[in-house]
Amino acid sequence: MTQTAEIEKVEVPLPGRAYDILIGPDLLARAGAEIAARLPGTRAAIVTDANLAGRHLATLQASLAESGIAAVAHVVPPGEKSKNFVELQNAVDAVLAARLERNDVVVALGGGVVGDLAGFAAGIVRRGMNFVQVPTSLLAQVDSSVGGKTGINTGHGKNLVGVFHQPKLVLADTSALDTLPPREFRAGYAEVMKYGLIDRPDFFAFLETNWREVFAGGPARARAIAESCRAKADVVVRDEFETGDRALLNLGHTFGHALEAATGYDGARLVHGEGVAIGMALAHRFSARMNLASPDDAARVEAHLAAVGLPRRIAEIEGDLPGAERLLDYIAQDKKVTRGTLTFILTHGVGRSFVARDVPRSEVLAFLREQLPE
Ligand SMILES: NC(=O)c1ccc[n+]([C@@H]2O[C@H](COP(=O)([O-])OP(=O)(O)OC[C@H]3O[C@@H](n4cnc5c(N)ncnc54)[C@H](O)[C@@H]3O)[C@@H](O)[C@H]2O)c1
Ligand SMILES: [Zn+2]
Repeated sequence: MTQTAEIEKVEVPLPGRAYDILIGPDLLARAGAEIAARLPGTRAAIVTDANLAGRHLATLQASLAESGIAAVAHVVPPGEKSKNFVELQNAVDAVLAARLERNDVVVALGGGVVGDLAGFAAGIVRRGMNFVQVPTSLLAQVDSSVGGKTGINTGHGKNLVGVFHQPKLVLADTSALDTLPPREFRAGYAEVMKYGLIDRPDFFAFLETNWREVFAGGPARARAIAESCRAKADVVVRDEFETGDRALLNLGHTFGHALEAATGYDGARLVHGEGVAIGMALAHRFSARMNLASPDDAARVEAHLAAVGLPRRIAEIEGDLPGAERLLDYIAQDKKVTRGTLTFILTHGVGRSFVARDVPRSEVLAFLREQLPE
């Protein structure tokens, strides 16, 4: 029992497709036992990327072997570019070449890229195979591994082709995060903060007090990831196929996506989580400007972003940026525009976000002009 004491469990109670998310240190070494307990007699294909292959793959393979699970490994190049049709075909071929059946399992070991690609392959091989997520980035542990969305990118845009395919199990090894580059960890932390800012003010206060331990590792890290998974799972259970309620998860993302587009998706200038960080600060500042929230709340959010080393102002992005009109175009492209108004996630204060449906374009433009560096 002592061994399992520090493992947190979050249940995702989807009818007929319920699954557990286990969160804690050294779970990679227990992956075989956890998978064998849920999928007896299974064989596995591990999909991972080259960064993980040199670090954590051997631990996972040893754990599967110990539990009698025969496994092959398929390694993809790291990075967003791997979410394409060619890599999808390669992954599908690898699973078929290993002669896996429907009741066998595809295991994704990696960040959101590997999870989205491997999950898509698992969702279409033999019309849907078992799938297990072993997320290794903070973003994947708190966001992409939960909820069953899978997919790849095309020339028409990101994540435009994919399926909903829920995993049978998610194993979030919190010590595997120790090898994640610090910038990637911070970027994932923006999504953790987001759950507090949406509707969990006590969680936000917990993060303000405990963020150092979340970054350093320790029980607060597992607690923060578990609380984030609980928040995401709640939304997923209410709206599995994303017809409405998932909108609040876009807090900070409308501004954030526009900034990512404006920097040409150049990860050296801005990674997704950094865009979300600035976006959350902007959403709070804009809410204060619209007299929906107190400026003190915006200041509080900014103070926490600054404490953890995340950006909070557009001016912190290196290099040239387009003007306010152009940024507004990016926002309008991202969102449906109805007669001169835009939909944003705004807030009445920390942990009190809401969907604002008719935000006047002119107000956003005036606000962006104030926010841009001269
Ligand atoms: N399906 C969903 O619901 C959902 C939700 C949010 C994001 N996403 C997708 O997730 C992707 C982003 O995920 P990401 O940020 O994890 O990117 P990623 O998978 O590219 O991982 C980021 C980098 O960290 C490396 N890495 C991962 N874990 C590591 C570890 N433990 N040690 C060392 N290096 C490690 C990876 O190799 C990669 O270079 C995007 O494609 C996005 O569209 C999907
Ligand atoms: Zn995000």
